[in-house]
Amino acid sequence: MAYLLFFQIFLFSLIKIAPFSDAWGKEGHFMVCKIAENYLSEKASRAVSDLLPSEAGGDLASVCSWADEVRFRYRWSSPLHFVNTPGVCNFKYSRDCHNSKGETDVCVVGAINNYTAQLQSYGGDSSGNDLSESLMFLAHFVGDVHQPLHAGFAADEGGNTITIHWYRRKSNLHHVWDVNIIETAMKDFYSDDLNSMIEAIQMNITDSWSDEIDQWQTCRSQSVACADKYASESIKQACDYAYKDVEQDSTLGDDYFYSRLPVLEKRIAQAGVRLAAILNVIFCGDSAVSK
Ligand SMILES: *[C@@H]1O[C@H](CO)[C@@H](O)[C@H](O)[C@H]1NC(C)=O
Ligand SMILES: *[C@@H]1O[C@H](CO)[C@@H](O)[C@H](O)[C@H]1NC(C)=O
Ligand SMILES: [Zn+2]
Repeated sequence: MAYLLFFQIFLFSLIKIAPFSDAWGKEGHFMVCKIAENYLSEKASRAVSDLLPSEAGGDLASVCSWADEVRFRYRWSSPLHFVNTPGVCNFKYSRDCHNSKGETDVCVVGAINNYTAQLQSYGGDSSGNDLSESLMFLAHFVGDVHQPLHAGFAADEGGNTITIHWYRRKSNLHHVWDVNIIETAMKDFYSDDLNSMIEAIQMNITDSWSDEIDQWQTCRSQSVACADKYASESIKQACDYAYKDVEQDSTLGDDYFYSRLPVLEKRIAQAGVRLAAILNVIFCGDSAVSK
């Protein structure tokens, strides 16, 4: 009996550090969409409610991880969650945005452009696209592109093949940024309450980061979403923070956690504000988020 129980715990722990952890965990995506909800214009808010599937109960955040749930059913969508570079700390669309077969546009940046364009047909001819799915994909991918290691190096699959210990538990570097940092922060600072963590991030947006919000939304290319820019920032942060001082079999603890958490929290804030700005432009033709 004890053996059986032990075996079950062992199996369970295997499942929890599943190898295909290629997505911000549910918590990360939920926070991004919750923050975005606060900044939607009335018109965008109405369009979003109209497009959400009934199981969302009117709440965008509740379907923010839908794209992860369908990535095996929709096998084609799996490479849309990330982009990799050939070991360099910058992003170039023409060089990097393709799948393993070399098909262009098949990466998270191409996907954001794709689903933005589809949603712009809202209210007109949607050309057979299911705009409800387009919205759920867009909301998810704007989150993904802000996770630094969703724009990582091809050779280590965005940190997935870098095995490390997160404190005393075995994990991998990608999973640390998807899940472990958020989990530890929730436990240490937010009494395991996701809403408190969202509130803390929200407070910073309206307070210490308020001067930066305009700049977060500025897009030099004049396109609705500036997905290239988000990916460029991510690979830079991957080099400066995520990969930095980490090797195969490193043990990461307090030093890493305390220095990287603020980086990650700010990424969540940026993703939320930008998602709202993108949706506001798509659905109203006007810009963005006011402070
Ligand atoms: C664009 O969206 C369509 C519909 O979901 C999908 O079939 C196609 O693979 C997408 N392409 C990219 C690059 O996102
Ligand atoms: C709020 O901003 C300060 C200053 O940038 C930072 O040190 C802190 O970690 C931030 N808190 C959250 C919850 O993002
Ligand atoms: Zn994802």
